[in-house]
Amino acid sequence: MSASGTISEHLLDWYRSHARSLPWRAPPGTPAPEPYRVWLSEVMLQQTTVAAVIPYYAKFLQLWPTVRDLAAAPEAEVMAAWAGLGYYSRARNLVACARAVAELGAFPDTEDRLRALPGLGAYTAAAVAAIAFGRRAVVVDANVERVVARLFAIAEPLPGGKAAIRAAADAITPAADAGDFAQAMMDLGTAICTPRDPKCLLCPLSADCAGRASGDPARFPAKAPKKPKPERVGTAFWIERGGQVWLVTRPPSGMLGGMRALPDDGWSARGDGSGEAPLAGEWREAGAIRHSFTHFYLTLRVWAAEGEPEGEGEWWPVEDIENAGLPTVFLKAARLGLNFFSR
Ligand code: ADE
Repeated sequence: MSASGTISEHLLDWYRSHARSLPWRAPPGTPAPEPYRVWLSEVMLQQTTVAAVIPYYAKFLQLWPTVRDLAAAPEAEVMAAWAGLGYYSRARNLVACARAVAELGAFPDTEDRLRALPGLGAYTAAAVAAIAFGRRAVVVDANVERVVARLFAIAEPLPGGKAAIRAAADAITPAADAGDFAQAMMDLGTAICTPRDPKCLLCPLSADCAGRASGDPARFPAKAPKKPKPERVGTAFWIERGGQVWLVTRPPSGMLGGMRALPDDGWSARGDGSGEAPLAGEWREAGAIRHSFTHFYLTLRVWAAEGEPEGEGEWWPVEDIENAGLPTVFLKAARLGLNFFSR
C-alpha cells in the first residue's frame, strides 16, 4: 500500500463514523445528492460559515426547488433572498449559472465543463465534480489548505505556497470516493485540525503528519504578514415620506451590485464619499455604523430627512424594512434611520 493510500484510507475510515450531518450532504458511502443541491450549497459556503448558510440553503430550496425554478426567477428576487449572506456577485452568478444549466438541460458532469459555467471557479467546479458526480477532483478550500500544509509541513508562506499545497493535495486524493474525501478533509479542518490549538490527539492522520512531527503544527500554513485593512468613510441617506422610506437599486456592477440599498454618497466607488445628499432639505444625523468588508472597514454615517427625492428608486414601507433584501451594511444603517424618527 502506498503512503498516499494510507492517508486517504485513514481519513475515509474516520469520516465514516465522524461525518457531520449537513442538509446538503449524503452520508458517507451513500449515493450523492442532486447536483443542484451540491452546487447551491458550495456556492453559498464559499467564504461563509456552515451555520450562516443553513437557513439560506433551506430558504432557496423552498423558493426554488430545482435549477429550472431558479433559472426562471427574476434576478432581483434572488438578490433579495441572498441579502445578508455577503459577496453578492455570487448571487448574480448563481442566476446566470442556473440559466446556463437550464439551457443545457442538466449540470455537466465533468470538472472542465463545470468550470465553463458562469461563476464557477476552480474550487466550486472541483467540489461539484467530486461530491455530486464522484469524479476524482482536487478540492482545496481554506480548511483543506491548512490540513495539507500541516500534513506535509509546507513552509512556503501563503499565498505563494498554494501551488505546493495543491500538488500535495493532488497526491493524496484517492481515485474513488473523492467527494467523501473532500468533505472529510473539510470536517477534519473544522473539528480537529483547527487554526489554533489543533486537536492532534484525536486526529486520524496524526501518525502521517509532518507538522505534528515538527512539534508545532499550528505554525502551518505560514502566512505572509498581513497589511492592515484600510478605513473608509461614507454617508447613507434615510429619506422618509408618510411611513415609507426611499430605496434605490445599486448599479449591476460594482460593490453590492444589483442589491436594494439606501441612497448613499458614492463611498464604494470613490473610497471616501462626497457626503453629498440626494435632495436639499433639513438633514439630521441619525448616527453611524461600522462594517467590515473583506478589503476595508467602513464607517457609514446616516443622515435622515423627510422629503421627495428625484431619480430612480422606490418607496418601501418603513415597518417592513427588514424584508427589503438590504445587504447587511445597509440594514444596519436603516436601523439607525428607523429609530431616528420617533414613532
Ligand atoms: N465548506 C464548503 N463545502 C463544504 C461541505 N460540502 N461541507 C462542509 N463544509 C463545507
